Order: sequence, then structure tokens, then C-alpha cells
Amino acid sequence: MKKVNILNKVEGFSKLSKLDKITWVNKTYFQNNSDSYNLLKQYWISDKYLQKIHEEFSENTISNFLFPLGLAPNFLIDGEDYTIPMAIEESSVVAAACKAAKYWRKRGGFKTKIIDFKKTGQVHFIFHGEYKKLNDFFIKIKKSLIKDCEKISKNMTKRGGGILDIELVNKTNDIKNYFQLNATFDTVDSMGANFINSCLEQFAKTIKKEALSFNSFSAEEKNIEIIMSILSNYVPDCLVRAEVSCSIEDLDKETDLSSKQFAEKFEQAVNIAKTQKERAVTHNKGIMNGVDSVIIATGNDFRAIEAGVHAYASKNGSYTSLSDVSIENGIFHFWIDLPISLGTVGGITSLHPLVKWSLELLKNPSGKDLMKIVAVAGLAQNFGALSSLITSGIQKGHMKMHLINILNALKATENEKNELINHFKSNIVSYSSVEKELSNIRNNEL
Ligand code: MEV
Repeated sequence: MKKVNILNKVEGFSKLSKLDKITWVNKTYFQNNSDSYNLLKQYWISDKYLQKIHEEFSENTISNFLFPLGLAPNFLIDGEDYTIPMAIEESSVVAAACKAAKYWRKRGGFKTKIIDFKKTGQVHFIFHGEYKKLNDFFIKIKKSLIKDCEKISKNMTKRGGGILDIELVNKTNDIKNYFQLNATFDTVDSMGANFINSCLEQFAKTIKKEALSFNSFSAEEKNIEIIMSILSNYVPDCLVRAEVSCSIEDLDKETDLSSKQFAEKFEQAVNIAKTQKERAVTHNKGIMNGVDSVIIATGNDFRAIEAGVHAYASKNGSYTSLSDVSIENGIFHFWIDLPISLGTVGGITSLHPLVKWSLELLKNPSGKDLMKIVAVAGLAQNFGALSSLITSGIQKGHMKMHLINILNALKATENEKNELINHFKSNIVSYSSVEKELSNIRNNEL
């Protein structure tokens, strides 16, 4: 086992000032190197108020961690124009979105619809008794469960949402004596995590309290053991569809393939992702390039969305493609169904200035509208990736964008960059080939 250096243990770290935290980490891990100290400070925002807002999003903050915020204009979604903000560090993603936006704009744009809009959460508990008795108890207390939550759900109800239903679920086949209270919610424009979790914790209190006075319960049955109360990030009933379609003749004119060949090869690529998990994971990862970058730019929880989307991709028992395609009667139809729980109010949406700005750019969408935009970003990304993969291959475009990263890593000057970007227009990009060409330039200059 690795030996732990006990000298690095620190007490009361969270109570130290930001500068003292930096001093500590610098002394403990960077030999008091002034470069490390200055680097962390360099990323502080000079506007003190703005810096404080960022610091207070999390704990033990010492600096800020920047991501590029890019724009993908020219999206036509349900007949409306959008410029989509994307926060992402991976080259090619924004470029691919822009290309797909322009491509489908000429072919009628993206169409979307909300298929369903429900979120769930569960109270997980242990009951030592008969299911029938528990069910009688549940029927009796169902109204109280909702009533005891009135204070919590008042505002949400005013906004048109709230608790939709509560059901008792017998899970004793999975775990002995284990049951769930499964509740469904409409959280309107908010992601609703706090609302759902508060309701669930109140349900748990009501169950405990009511069980004590339920006469048909024995002493053991009265002692319901609450294990936990928490929302589920699996949201198969909070589902949005985005789609594009056009006649086959109107498809790609930019490759050596005929429109028909392009459509058929595209269909094969999707079929491979539908049947082979090795491909499905990468196929879906490409979709999430688009989804996550909009989710991050709009201040939403990309971990929750990732977890829910991938669980949905395996809902039938094996992991499969999130997108699908059909070619029927000369029409190419490409679509995606995505389970997405997000918010356009609450959380950091009004606190993080760039999130607020991104939402304004998207015309202050409702939660449902933002679900649609996110699904479009995912579908556009998937279309861009598959179009490249079945024609030129992904590396051509990818390495061109990546070239800049390699040049930056090699600390190329602006002149060197321009010269090498030109050179690699007709040569294959790899780290070693860029390194070699750069050293040729530098040697020639000597
Ligand atoms: C790279 O980030 C994403 C792709 O691998 C997606 C795909 O293969 O479909 C290009």
C-alpha cells in the first residue's frame, strides 16, 4: 500500500482564507513555487463581486477553471432562429454544430416535441409486515402525504406544477421487506431537485408519524424504517424528441457519394450503433458533446443528465443508440429521443452571469423549450459526426482543429502557427509530424 505522508494532513482547511489555502497547497505540493501561486491568482476575476459569486458556488475555492464558450448560429428550430451557446473544451464540436445547423437550415430545419414531462423520486423503506396491510395504510394516508407538503409545494403549484401522484411499490422480490413510495412531479421551469427532495423527506416524516397511530399495525409494523428519500436522475418520462427529414435527393452534395449512397451508409452506421455496444457508446458520446456543452452553458447539471441519458440508452436491457433513422418512400428521417431534466430558473441560472447571458441569448426559454434546444444540439452533433465518419473520416476535420492545440502545446509563435496551418492543409496532422515541422522551421531560422 502507498505510504501516506501524514505531514500533509491539514485541520480546519475550509476556515482558511483563499490566499492562505493557496499558500498551504503551494507549500505542501509545489515547493513554494511562485509560478503555481501566480497561476492560481491569475485566474481570479478582477471584479471582486463577480469573483465572490463564483467562489460561493462551491467549497474550498481557490481559483476559477475556465472553459471556452462558443456560439453555433444558424439553427432553425420549429421555424425559429437560434444561436446556441456551447461551453466545451473539445475542438471540432462547435464547428460540427455550425455545419449541421447550416445544412439542415436549407432543408427545413429541426423539428421538436415534448413527449412527456414527469420527474420522479422515491422514499426507500423497510416494512416488516404484510403488503396488504401496508397498502391499506398507504391508501389511508395518501391525502395526508400531499397535505403535509402544502407549504413546500405551494409556489410550485402556483406555477402550474407540483406533486402529480404517489404510489406504493412492492420491491420485496428484489430485497427482503423493501418498499418504495414512488412520487411523480411536474417542476415546470426548474430542475426541481430541491423541491422534489424536500417533498420526499416530508413524505418520509408523514409515513413515520402516521404509522405510529395506524391501529391495524403491530408494534413491529409501526416501526417503519426509512432508508433514504431522494429524487431519481432516471427520467424516461421527461422526454423530448428532435428530428430532421428531407427527400433523399436533397441529401449531401459535398461528397463523392450519391445522395442515395449517403443515406444508405448513414443508415448502416446508425444500425451498427443500434446493435453493437462498442459503437453505441462512442455514437452516444458524440451526442453528449452537443448536449453537455449546452447544459453547461445554461448552468444545468451535466452529471445528472449524463447518468439519466445513458441509463435510458440501456432501458431495454442492452446499451444502444440514442438516435434512429428511417428511409421510407424516398424520405430520409433522422431523430433522437432524450430524457432530459433541466431548469431555466433556480440553481445558478440567475446567479452565474454567463449562464444568465446564455439563457437570454436563447430568448429566455421555458424548461420545455430548453429541452428541445438541447436535443437539437445532440442530434446536430450526431449528424455531423456520422456524416464525417461515413465520408472523409473523422480525423481530417478533427486533427485540423487539434492542430491549434498541438501548436499551442509546443509554444509556437503566431508566424509559426500560420506557416504550419498552411503546411498541414495538404499533410497529415499528428503530434510527431507537427513537432518535426516546427523544429524544421526553427532550425532553418538559425
Ligand atoms: C468525438 O468526441 C465524438 C465522435 O467519436 C462521435 C462518433 O464517433 O460518433 C466523433
